[in-house]
Amino acid sequence: MGSIERFWYILLLCLTLFIGTFAEFIPGSYLTLPKCIEATETTATYPNDPGWKNAKVGERIRFQRKPLVVTYPINTTQVQWLVQCANSFKVKPVPRNGGHSNIGSSSKDNSLVIDLSYMDSVVINVVTQTAVVGGGIRLGPLYIELDKAGFTIISATCPTVGLSGAISSGGFGLQSRKYGVSGDFVLEAEVVTANGSILIANAESYPDLFWALRGGGGGKFGIVTQWKLKIIPIWPKFTVFNIDYSYVGFQEVLLLFWNWAYSSIEDLSVAFVFSNKEIKIHGHFLGGQKDLHNLLDPVGLFKVANAKPKKHEDCTHLGSRAYFLDKDKTCDKSYLLNVGNFPFGPNYGEDPSLKTAEITQVTEGVLAGYAAALKQQREVVKTKSMFFAKELSVENITTIIERAKAMPDGAYAELTTYGGILETQLTDLTAFPFRNGVAYHILLEVPLSGNDITDGPALNFITSWEEALRPLSNGGSYVGYEDEDLENPESFYFGKNLDKIKGVESKYDPNNILDAGQIAPPLTDERCPFVVGGDPPGRRSACIGTNDNLHIYLTYLLIITLILLNILSASH
Ligand SMILES: Cc1cc2nc3c(=O)[nH]c(=O)nc-3n(C[C@H](O)[C@H](O)[C@H](O)COP(=O)(O)OP(=O)(O)OC[C@H]3O[C@@H](n4cnc5c(N)ncnc54)[C@H](O)[C@@H]3O)c2cc1C
Ligand SMILES: *[C@@H]1O[C@H](CO)[C@@H](O)[C@H](O)[C@H]1NC(C)=O
Ligand SMILES: *[C@@H]1O[C@H](CO)[C@@H](O)[C@H](O)[C@H]1NC(C)=O
Ligand SMILES: *[C@@H]1O[C@H](CO)[C@@H](O)[C@H](O)[C@H]1NC(C)=O
Repeated sequence: MGSIERFWYILLLCLTLFIGTFAEFIPGSYLTLPKCIEATETTATYPNDPGWKNAKVGERIRFQRKPLVVTYPINTTQVQWLVQCANSFKVKPVPRNGGHSNIGSSSKDNSLVIDLSYMDSVVINVVTQTAVVGGGIRLGPLYIELDKAGFTIISATCPTVGLSGAISSGGFGLQSRKYGVSGDFVLEAEVVTANGSILIANAESYPDLFWALRGGGGGKFGIVTQWKLKIIPIWPKFTVFNIDYSYVGFQEVLLLFWNWAYSSIEDLSVAFVFSNKEIKIHGHFLGGQKDLHNLLDPVGLFKVANAKPKKHEDCTHLGSRAYFLDKDKTCDKSYLLNVGNFPFGPNYGEDPSLKTAEITQVTEGVLAGYAAALKQQREVVKTKSMFFAKELSVENITTIIERAKAMPDGAYAELTTYGGILETQLTDLTAFPFRNGVAYHILLEVPLSGNDITDGPALNFITSWEEALRPLSNGGSYVGYEDEDLENPESFYFGKNLDKIKGVESKYDPNNILDAGQIAPPLTDERCPFVVGGDPPGRRSACIGTNDNLHIYLTYLLIITLILLNILSASH
């Protein structure tokens, strides 16, 4: 071998070793997105695969998004590589945890969905009262795992909601009036950023990111693969209760409730639920029945409007969480929290006949020692969220009641009480802005069929609700209940925190790779045309788009060819 050839040979060898050592994964070296994904060794489901219809959407199926592929990583490296693949092929990476986004934000059109369901580990340190948990865990399994060690955390009631989605929204739940929202329990987050790096965000490192991850909205600042959380010991004493009233007492009960609840003591979590037929109160109190009576008797809420109260002070902690899920309002159905990794019934969004298919038990990821929950029926619903700042006049309460009586069947609203510790906290404590000055939140939920014509009256009702109640509200809406009707939705979701959130977003995702806005517009990717009459109809061709880093791919091939040539010539 001549000295010039030897020079080239050594240079190329060094180059290859360099690339191999410092870039263990080179997305540019794969010709297609599926090849790139395959190289990450991540399980992936594509449009022609069995199970696609269930993989492509989450719990809310009103919007049937069309991602290109759904992936199921099991560790942070895989998430990182998947983001790198997505970047290399100019496809949006979209994280999914519980899949509860109202408008399909966790499964956007033409995206690479990164479903973190398998990243659901929980490691508890009872001494420091902290837990390190995977970014893909759902709340039911988290409550069960923490309960085993005698701990809990504050978050949403619904066991299939994802912890990451809840923290990204804020995360309001039982005893938020005493302890704050889920985001307030976060000590640290491991984040895969839009450019495919890994960061640890906490109060000292990347504090602006750490601030924004807690309530600034999901899937915008990075993909959280792991959370370090503060946990709290299970309450030694509590009472759960439920009071049914006769409907004629609507105005009396709502007035009493509205004027009293948000200024009541922080040990009380209490909500007023109403529909066109029913009104009731349910709550969770850190104390016994007697103390609860001392609290509510002066208000009259155990007596007025033919009140029928039910109280339990002997529930287990998990039983009390299940109480709020159980139609019969008992405390012995802890298994309702045992929802596993894949808890949803069939996706009937495009095939209504599946709606009546038998709902089976959850199997995958069910925790041992508890019976399994039934799969949760997915939902075609629309919600409206509004926060309220102050006491309302009788006239204003009447406005709410008039709208309630006009609700379509199956619709309901839940008025949750804020105040307590939240009242003492500044709006910018974290990105979640609904703290001091916020008295109540009202969530309206209306079931739909998915057919815009038959849904017409219900959709009109929702519009009338917005028009009648928005002027009474403080102007805010919860990002956890995204609403595609809002104009400039982010100003509703984040209020005074919006500018800071936008700043963090443009710092950590300058090219807007992660967040394509509230409704992801379909990408117009000419290299990847729609197949007319495909299966499912309108899906894109297998979408073997060329690698945007084609030059890297070609260079890589060239290097390898040259090395082989050199080796061949050297052996002569
Ligand atoms: C039936 C129901 C009950 C609810 N009850 C409550 C309640 O009691 N209290 C409350 O506060 N909220 C409640 N919510 C709202 C809920 O907290 C939010 O909708 C939340 O965003 C859902 O999170 P998810 O992980 O299930 O959803 P997903 O759809 O998976 O995610 C929501 C958003 O977060 C992003 N995201 C997901 N995982 C990650 C990650 N690892 N890193 C970064 N971004 C990520 C997604 O891309 C998406 O934008 C409820 C919602 C429903 C549908
Ligand atoms: C992540 O998972 C993949 C697939 O099983 C495995 O090859 C890889 O070693 C794992 N990486 C880490 C850092 O655990
Ligand atoms: C709310 O109450 C105030 C005081 O009674 C009244 O001026 C206002 O018009 C009411 N608004 C609505 C929308 O009912
Ligand atoms: C990737 O983004 C992070 C966060 O914005 C940044 O700190 C890092 O320098 C970026 N890395 C590269 C290679 O650009």
